[in-house]
Amino acid sequence: MRVVSGVKPSGKMHIGNYLGAVKRFIEFQNRAEESFIFVANYHVLNTCPDPSDLRESTMGILLDYLALGLDPEKATLFLQSSVPEVTELTFLLSNYTPMGLLERAHAYKDAISRGKNINHGLFTYPVLMAADILAYHANIVPVGKDQKQHIEITRDIALRFNNRYGEVLTIPEPFIEKDMAVIPGMDGRKMSKSYGNTIEIFNSPGRMKKQIMNIVTDSTPMEEPLDADSCNVFALYRFFATPEECEEMKEKYASPSFGYGHAKLALFEKIDAYFAPFREKREALARDEEMVREILRLGGEKARQEAQKTVSDVRKAVGIIEI
Ligand code: ADP
Ligand code: TRP
Repeated sequence: MRVVSGVKPSGKMHIGNYLGAVKRFIEFQNRAEESFIFVANYHVLNTCPDPSDLRESTMGILLDYLALGLDPEKATLFLQSSVPEVTELTFLLSNYTPMGLLERAHAYKDAISRGKNINHGLFTYPVLMAADILAYHANIVPVGKDQKQHIEITRDIALRFNNRYGEVLTIPEPFIEKDMAVIPGMDGRKMSKSYGNTIEIFNSPGRMKKQIMNIVTDSTPMEEPLDADSCNVFALYRFFATPEECEEMKEKYASPSFGYGHAKLALFEKIDAYFAPFREKREALARDEEMVREILRLGGEKARQEAQKTVSDVRKAVGIIEI
């Protein structure tokens, strides 16, 4: 079984990215599935980022991947931009992509409703994503819930293509872990860079603590029992604590002298202890950029070979003469 996924280098890795996506990549890798995991540095271009920010966050995501446990011996790690065949496949697939399919895409509709200037890159984002997935014959695509529609569009494009030309493309399935589908942010909405409500995982402990202390809670006075089930702090705590610790924490919430400040401190301690070893590993990796580049070079070559085969099959299927 082959697993394919990627993360856009659009800012710093947060708890939502980790629990919703990257942790799944690592689990699949450790179950010895064949994995192709990349940094989607073409997808982010529709926001026209500052070039030096883009360079920094591209290498940053790769350091995050490695520090969190992705292993180049087990998974193929690469940059989306190392595989130019993916852009050729995007063009080829665009001819089997109805306009209506793209006009119904949430990200596009959302940008329209916010009166944003929309470029072609944003409009065709799902076709590039379909090419990313189909180029490597993915069976499984682990993502958070917000990406579900993109996988549905990918399946739709691949089915149309196969109906016309035979079984050339592999139809992928999304893998969305139910409990981790939408990790809440500091304000209770989905944790997302675009809402500015994230808790970043490679911050200094001081900054992480500050973000956690800023989690929005209600104004129940400390003397009154607090309700863990409706609390944004507990909503995050449960991802890092054992079931017994969660039960204990619920009892504390119900006791009179326990306030949100105590809950936030407990959450900080849990998260800080969880990520501290990864933070140290990342600092060590960051000192060896040449090693990281070598991983990307090797991964890029392997991914490219796979994509070349797919593009060649697609060209042949549609009637392009290969000379
Ligand atoms: P953001 O919304 O912060 O820009 P991305 O779009 O870069 O995040 O998401 C990268 C990956 O992390 C995707 O697979 C996405 O589904 C997952 N992800 C992002 N935020 C969350 C969240 N709050 N809960 C679960 N998964 C998430
Ligand atoms: N669109 C995904 C995101 O915003 C990133 C991505 C690009 C991706 N290509 C992909 C994810 C292919 C899975 C498979 O997070």
